Amino acid sequence: MSATEGKQNKDTVEASGNTGKLIPVYVMGKRYEVPESLTIMKAMEYAGFKFIRGCGCRGGICGACATVYRKAGDYRLRVGLACQTVVEPNMYLTQIPFYPANRATCDFSQLTSNPEEIFKLYPELFRCIACNLCTKACPMDVEVMDYIAALKQGNIARAAELSFNCIQCGLCASRCMGELPQYHIAQLARRIYGSKIVPRAEHLAGAAAASNSGKYDACLETLMKMSEEDLRRLYREREMEPEIATEDWVPNDTQYL
Ligand code: FES
Repeated sequence: MSATEGKQNKDTVEASGNTGKLIPVYVMGKRYEVPESLTIMKAMEYAGFKFIRGCGCRGGICGACATVYRKAGDYRLRVGLACQTVVEPNMYLTQIPFYPANRATCDFSQLTSNPEEIFKLYPELFRCIACNLCTKACPMDVEVMDYIAALKQGNIARAAELSFNCIQCGLCASRCMGELPQYHIAQLARRIYGSKIVPRAEHLAGAAAASNSGKYDACLETLMKMSEEDLRRLYREREMEPEIATEDWVPNDTQYL
């Protein structure tokens, strides 16, 4: 990130009339006055920082904006996502958009669902001392220590399930006493689970076969020839699945099912 386009960002916030009360925050030790209602990310932009790294979705999904901070008068080191955490008076903060953590390399096609293979790739798994700092650091409330414990017991399916909401921000690894790269280990567990443990979905195989048989070729050709305007109209007028659909719901047009 850099502090080059602050005025523009400041003007945008001020033009929206949403400045509210200004509060002091400290970014990398330097004091700035920012509107109290902003997230850390918006406050930093208001203060003049331009995000080149450390910002992606702005919606708590991509994990790019890991941030570490302390509050005034509080000894604890806190972590959070800059796009989700609202600033507080006299907050001291900095971003850690990338956290170095060991990532094992392997030929995934050669891996099996034998947990021993994960143990070989990540022997540091057994350095976990169950302090639970990883779980406390997780902005997604993932039970990090529990999925590590499940993996140590060889339960890849449980680890995949428990880590499903991980957004790979790396904050767990940043606090780990045993120096584990939890988020990389969990990602491997989920890949193995999805690829080598869960049975293949039959409907997916059916859809792939239908596609390979040329069932949709004529339809796709027609779409390719349509003008952008007609495509937009078609999209607007498409039949949508009701928000609360029963299991036996089917569209009126079933020719491509
Ligand atoms: S920018 Fe994607 S999680 Fe914050």
